[in-house]
Amino acid sequence: MQLTTEQLKEKINNYKKKLSVTVVAHFYQRDEVFEIGDITGDSLELAQKTKADTADYVVFCGVGFMGQSVKVLSPHKRVVMPKLACCAMATMIDGVGFDNSVKALNEAGILSENILPITYINSNVEVKAKVGQMGGMVCTSSNAKIIITTALKEGKKILFVPDRCLGQNIANQMGLKSSIIGDGSNIAESDIICFNGFCSVHQLFSVDDINFYRKKFPGILIAVHPECDPSVCDASDFVGSTSQLIKFIKKLPEDQKVAVGTEFNLVNRLRPKNTYVLSSTKPECPTMNETTLEDVYNVLKSIDEGEPLNEIKVDDETQKWAKISLDRMLAL
Ligand code: 13P
Ligand code: SF4
Repeated sequence: MQLTTEQLKEKINNYKKKLSVTVVAHFYQRDEVFEIGDITGDSLELAQKTKADTADYVVFCGVGFMGQSVKVLSPHKRVVMPKLACCAMATMIDGVGFDNSVKALNEAGILSENILPITYINSNVEVKAKVGQMGGMVCTSSNAKIIITTALKEGKKILFVPDRCLGQNIANQMGLKSSIIGDGSNIAESDIICFNGFCSVHQLFSVDDINFYRKKFPGILIAVHPECDPSVCDASDFVGSTSQLIKFIKKLPEDQKVAVGTEFNLVNRLRPKNTYVLSSTKPECPTMNETTLEDVYNVLKSIDEGEPLNEIKVDDETQKWAKISLDRMLAL
């Protein structure tokens, strides 16, 4: 028999009381999943808050790289995911793709010892480990600027993976030269060389959408995530991570209209009025939307029965190096 949403919530709450578990949910999760989160936030906050949490099990409602990051930072914890959903951007680069990117820089005349790699947290654990081994570190959308500022002090070229948009947006903000591997741009003359990855959800927002809203509602503000195309970020009033967007929008006067360029579930929860989705196509992240209440219930049940489903495992060597690259970020 299919359980109703209310029945599922009740059963989930009973398991939460009975078991040593913390349910963690990213802002992009479906409303009903987000509401049962004990810890919610952007990807940096989730990594930090979950590290400080003391429960034996983390039930992570989000995408694979987020669950992996928790496991890497707290190897003694058991991390399970109601759905093993994979961020599309994170799947664009693996260890081989990373090695080939280093090779592309070498071929452009940049020696490996003069490369400092930075990986956006939206990457798999293998890539984070490779970055750690090369002396690099992780960044998130909320701290990318400070991480890159620190990295540049080493006087090296930055190899930024996998999100070309975040890499180029930070370069533009800081007045640095950037290029994208494989698109014919000049790698040797760039400060930041980006892998050609992107988020298909954030590619939905365009300058045409911004012009449409500015014409329709003069005085409207445009707030977007830095995974949007540089042309979109340049034409916006505010660019920030999911948490930064929420803080910015919640402080606006009630009658201030704002159009927001990020995932639909987050935008839909923001404010009852005067908030618009900056796209005519509903910007839903397919993988973030995969996790259902039923999946959360099933994973809690499996913990109670002693056979946890979808547990995240990372081998020791990968864990060691990925932790180094994440810890370097957290230390800043
Ligand atoms: P935040 O780091 O802003 O939470 O973003 C994660 C993400 O996947 C955005 O698409
Ligand atoms: Fe990945 Fe884009 Fe979904 Fe964020 S919105 S989890 S970057 S696919």
